[in-house]
Amino acid sequence: MTDEDRVREDRLDALLSAVLGQVGGSDPRLRELTTSLVRHLHAFVRETRPTEDEWLTGIDFLVRTGHTCTDLRNEFILLSDMLGLTSAVDEVNHAGPAEATPSSVEGPFHAPAPPRENGAWIAAGPERRRGQLMVVRGRVTDTGGTPIEGATVDIWQADDAGHYDSQDPAQRPGNLRGLFTTGADGAYWFRSVVPSSYPVPTDGPVGRLLRALGRHPMRPAHIHYRVEAPGHRPVTTHVFVAGDEYLDSDAAFAVKEELIVTPVIRREGESYGVDGPFADFVFDVRLVPLEVAR
Ligand code: BEZ
Ligand code: FE
Repeated sequence: MTDEDRVREDRLDALLSAVLGQVGGSDPRLRELTTSLVRHLHAFVRETRPTEDEWLTGIDFLVRTGHTCTDLRNEFILLSDMLGLTSAVDEVNHAGPAEATPSSVEGPFHAPAPPRENGAWIAAGPERRRGQLMVVRGRVTDTGGTPIEGATVDIWQADDAGHYDSQDPAQRPGNLRGLFTTGADGAYWFRSVVPSSYPVPTDGPVGRLLRALGRHPMRPAHIHYRVEAPGHRPVTTHVFVAGDEYLDSDAAFAVKEELIVTPVIRREGESYGVDGPFADFVFDVRLVPLEVAR
C-alpha cells in the first residue's frame, strides 16, 4: 500500500466512523438497520470506486424509478424483485420446517378474490376456449398430515397469454381468481386453464436495466396461492408448471423445487366434468401450527 493509499483508507475509516457516530434516536431497530446499511454502502464505494458521473447516473436511475411509480405501479418493488431482494426478505421471514409448504413472493397482482365453491371454473373469459384446460386439486393439512377443515385457499393466475384480469380488457374483474374453503377432508379444487409464462413490465427504468444487463424479463408459468387457517401460520406461495422454459431463470428468483408440479394429462371424460382433455395438477399445502411456528 502506498502512502497515498494509506491516507485515503484512514480518511475513509474516519468518514464512516463520523457517519455512524451520528446514528442515534430512540428506536434501536432503526439504529441497527441504518448502521448496517451505511456500512454496506460505504463498503460498496470502497470496493467499486465509482466515478462521480457513475454515482450521479445511479442517483438519476433511482429518481427515474421513483417517477415511474403510480398508485397502480411500484417500480421500486419491481427493482427489489429483479435483484432477488424480495425473495431474500421472504426467505428470512418465512423459513419453516422442511415438512411445511415453502413460501414465495406475493407479486403485484393480488386482489380480493370472489368466494367460490370447490370445483368452480375460474376461467370465464375467452381463455376458456383458447387455453389448455386444467384441474387443480389438493388438500390443506398441518405439517403432521392432519387435514384442516375451513382453510381458505386464495388463488390468482394469469391466462394462457400471460395476462391477469387487471391487465386485460377482455377479462372481467375476478376472472382467474377464486377464494375456496376446504371441506372436512382438507380438500380444495377448481377448474381453469393452464397459465403461461409472462414478462414483468419492461417499459420503465427497471426494464432498461434488465436489457443493459443482458437479462430477460420472463416469469415461468405459475398459479399464486395464499392459504390461511385459524391456529396456523398462513403461507403465500406459487405453484409452478413443470417443463416451463424459464424455471431456471425466473426474473423474480421465486422458484423453489418443492413448488414445481408436473400435471398428469387426462382424456376427456376422466371425471371432474371437463369437456376435453385436461392437465391435472395436484398440490397439497402443509401449514405450520402456530405453537410450532413460535
Ligand atoms: C408475479 O408473479 O405476479 C410477479 C412477481 C414478482 C414480480 C413481478 C410479477
Ligand atoms: Fe404472477
